[in-house]
Amino acid sequence: MKSTVWLPLLAFIWGSASANPIVGLFDPACQVVTGECPNKNVSFWLYSNSTRENPKLLNPLDLNPWDFQPPRPLKILIHGYTGYRDFAPNSYIRPVLLDHEDVYVISIDYGPLVAYPCYIQAVQNLPLVSRCLAQLINNLVDRAIVANDQIHLIGFSLGGQVAGQTANYVKRKLKRITGLDPAKPLFILGPDSRRLDQGDADFVDVIHTDAFGRGYLRSAGHVDFYPNFGVKQPGCMEENMQDPGSCNHERAPRFYAESINSTVGFWGRQCTSWLVQLLALCPTTGAQSLMGYRVSNELRGSYFLQTAGKSPFALGKMPDVDNRQTLAKFHLNFKHNEIANGYEPQLLEAFLELDKVKVVVNMDKADLDKQLNWTHRAEDEPLSKNLIK
Ligand SMILES: *[C@@H]1O[C@H](CO)[C@@H](O)[C@H](O)[C@H]1NC(C)=O
Ligand SMILES: *[C@@H]1O[C@H](CO)[C@@H](O)[C@H](O)[C@H]1NC(C)=O
Ligand SMILES: *[C@@H]1O[C@H](CO)[C@@H](O)[C@H](O)[C@H]1NC(C)=O
Ligand SMILES: *[C@@H]1O[C@H](CO)[C@@H](O)[C@H](O)[C@H]1NC(C)=O
Repeated sequence: MKSTVWLPLLAFIWGSASANPIVGLFDPACQVVTGECPNKNVSFWLYSNSTRENPKLLNPLDLNPWDFQPPRPLKILIHGYTGYRDFAPNSYIRPVLLDHEDVYVISIDYGPLVAYPCYIQAVQNLPLVSRCLAQLINNLVDRAIVANDQIHLIGFSLGGQVAGQTANYVKRKLKRITGLDPAKPLFILGPDSRRLDQGDADFVDVIHTDAFGRGYLRSAGHVDFYPNFGVKQPGCMEENMQDPGSCNHERAPRFYAESINSTVGFWGRQCTSWLVQLLALCPTTGAQSLMGYRVSNELRGSYFLQTAGKSPFALGKMPDVDNRQTLAKFHLNFKHNEIANGYEPQLLEAFLELDKVKVVVNMDKADLDKQLNWTHRAEDEPLSKNLIK
């Protein structure tokens, strides 16, 4: 069983792995910024339906309660590497939110800290960004301007990791974080406190769309969705032949934006693991669950679905296909737990990651770790021990 599993799997993975975006790492212009919050490189822009054309720049130390009247849910959008406040996920999600939901939106802008080609330095600048975002959230909530349970962080790529790290600095546990294809390069090997995981909020939902490129396969939330196996998105070859990986990656915020007002919805089915799903060993009948903005916060586990290759992407509920007979043959293996194990693909992925980093950066893991300096710092200590109830 084992070897017959691995051969097609490896072929699939090598066929799907897209180029790693880590290039030009050692440009002398790249800097790691040490600074205080508020910081002029980290700005916060408040949008509401009526101020969408002229957002207000917020001063985290001098917040005006009237800017948040009447009370509405607050969505905080966090861009990634090479982004700014109008870059993904903002460009896709903010207009749909303001059109269809009665919410405030804050778009954070930390573009100067994550400029091309400085990926390693960008990763090292994230704790500063996260501290500044946490300062804003703490001040909003301390002053009762916004209720903690009204706040929802939505981060794309490196922004997904910013959301996860913000959890290290807030005084009260965050209610909800959405990770849209959270960035993998240099995070798989880093410590948990730097990486989005389900400890970071009461509910963490994640969508994986470029798992072998800029994103990753490993589950990161209470619930993880893998559209089109989370690897190769239909339509991306046609849309961006030079760099289909970046198209795969941006599908996550595009799906999410569409999920806000889709009439049919993105529906997925649960499977124990990605590998089991890849081998077509999960039921293709029965319950389905909604992905995206309207996901149930009770949902747990990994979910799989297909999408269309262009907008509108959602296909609605999947038809039932009775595969019980095929599944029956494998029940023995399931019992012996030969493949129903999330560990194997994760291990494989770690290898892939190391391998690609080595090829591109041409140095080994020890050097890379040194370069990254994942030193534990006291100020990064999670506050969860003394969270305010
Ligand atoms: C959803 O909203 C966007 C913009 O607000 C609009 O372009 C799109 O047509 C809407 N979709 C549906 C299905 O109503
Ligand atoms: C936004 O404002 C427009 C009018 O300017 C209104 O038609 C629309 O319903 C508003 N949307 C929401 C979600 O309140
Ligand atoms: C802002 O970032 C630039 C690098 O992009 C840096 O040179 C500058 O010192 C930073 N300013 C502050 C206040 O941190
Ligand atoms: C990591 O950073 C700390 C403090 O910023 C510094 O003292 C230490 O020497 C650095 N370690 C390496 C391996 O560069």
